[in-house]
Amino acid sequence: MSYQGPQFYDNDGVFDVYQKRRQRAASPNDTLERPVILELLGEVQAHDFLDLGCGDAAFGKELLAAGASSYLGVDGSQNMIRLAG
Ligand SMILES: C[S@@+](CC[C@H](N)C(=O)[O-])C[C@H]1O[C@@H](n2cnc3c(N)ncnc32)[C@H](O)[C@@H]1O
Repeated sequence: MSYQGPQFYDNDGVFDVYQKRRQRAASPNDTLERPVILELLGEVQAHDFLDLGCGDAAFGKELLAAGASSYLGVDGSQNMIRLAG
């Protein structure tokens, strides 16, 4: 099994566990990363965003709802792209 890059998330067992952990209310992504990313981004309205390693692209939906001009998410995992679609 590959543990590097997007192939990691294309192992269905790993993907299922990751998604369960990612959806938790207190996931590290939401409690640690998210506030820092939002602070670094600053004003969202009328800006274009490129998200490398976007996962399910939920953040893109949030940015567009907040007034972003455009959002392009890129991910190498087929499982993630399927969710983002
Ligand atoms: C920890 S997940 C985070 C996903 C998303 N940013 C989030 O916050 O939910 C990392 C993502 O980066 C993607 N990724 C990692 N290395 C990559 C590479 N070299 N090319 C494309 N995608 C990559 C993975 O497939 C995975 O979806």
